[in-house]
Amino acid sequence: MASNTADRDRVALAFSGGLDTTVCVPLLEEEYGYDEVIGLTVDVGQPEAEFAEAEETAAALDLDHHVVDATSEFAETCFDAVRANATYQGYPLGTALARPVIARAILETAEEHDCSALAHGSTGKGNDQLRFEAVWRGSDMEVVAPVRELGLTREWETEYAAERGLPVEGGDEGTYSIDTNLWSRSIEGGQLEEPSYVPGEEIYEWTQAPDGAAELVEIEFEEGYPIAVDGTAMDDVELIEQLNELAGAHGVGRTDLMEDRMLGLKVRENYEHPAATVLLNAHEALEDLVLTKDERSFKQQIDQQWAENAYQGLVDAPLVDALEAFVDTTNEHATGTVTMRLEGGRARPVGRESEYAVYSAEAASFNTETVGDITQADATGVAKYHGFQDRLANAIRERALERPSAGVAVDGGDNESTTGND
Ligand code: ARG
Repeated sequence: MASNTADRDRVALAFSGGLDTTVCVPLLEEEYGYDEVIGLTVDVGQPEAEFAEAEETAAALDLDHHVVDATSEFAETCFDAVRANATYQGYPLGTALARPVIARAILETAEEHDCSALAHGSTGKGNDQLRFEAVWRGSDMEVVAPVRELGLTREWETEYAAERGLPVEGGDEGTYSIDTNLWSRSIEGGQLEEPSYVPGEEIYEWTQAPDGAAELVEIEFEEGYPIAVDGTAMDDVELIEQLNELAGAHGVGRTDLMEDRMLGLKVRENYEHPAATVLLNAHEALEDLVLTKDERSFKQQIDQQWAENAYQGLVDAPLVDALEAFVDTTNEHATGTVTMRLEGGRARPVGRESEYAVYSAEAASFNTETVGDITQADATGVAKYHGFQDRLANAIRERALERPSAGVAVDGGDNESTTGND
């Protein structure tokens, strides 16, 4: 740290007002030698109370604090994720998708304020440090991570805050560690660290315990992007907020999983993500209608890799551009409407329509005899060949078993009749 004292006057800190980022403020001045710290909070749809907490804490710290609105950009990123049907081990990636958006907003704002360095309060154990720095280290700014670099523990931070009279009481340092944005609310820590611990309803805020009620909701897509709910067009942020409420009331979008973090740690995670679940399931149902069988199966590999990059925060990788080219092509015709049934904690597609459906009711119907000039009887030849190779292999292997010297075919006898050319 002593080496960090020269010339570096102003540092921009990703600031939430929580314990980690609060202790970072004096540490950046005293341990790192910065003359000035500015705190930046990026709005990606956190609850109002979090901004109030950040403002209050900043005021008490006498910190120059700015809030940057990135909600629209974040919602757009969420919709890119919908087009790629993106989940990682069952998690719709809310925190992961938000981090590069936050990192970019902080970088831009820091440049406007003539900062020479960027700081975050992430620990050395999680994913967020890697996601922030994947973006920041592409700039000329210096990057510092006090909690990680100084080896701080929560216990040490709490004591330090008390000693220094830092404003941390009444904050969000409750039983669990929560990260909330438009796309998901994550709950970790506390008793949840025990994978066998069964949490009660109290961990949930966005979702109700499912009752018996059911509701239909219609989602309209244009080229894979959600554009309307029940016939009403709305902007991205509003659409997500509305679905979070609507589907949350039916308990849709609760996930309890073991997650493999980037550093190899396995952690127990709980998430709420009602809108994400509805939109992901609806979008997939639409692709099922408009894509060919081969496009559907190949897209699963593309989607899986897109989600992997998103989880790692490696969204500027050249590979992502290539994957998105495939997503764009396959979603050119993902225009249409899907009816979803919200019930008992689930969101299931129960109806779909698109002018690009790769579907012919006439061809599939039991009531028509011909499709163009193809008749039912034309399938007879196909049916004769279907499974031909399997039947042949089974016959050869059965015969080999019947022979006295079972196993190796050496007699050259019967085999000849089965090896004729096509
Ligand atoms: N495990 C998730 C991720 O890495 C979410 C972590 C959210 N943080 C929290 N304090 N709950 O994307």
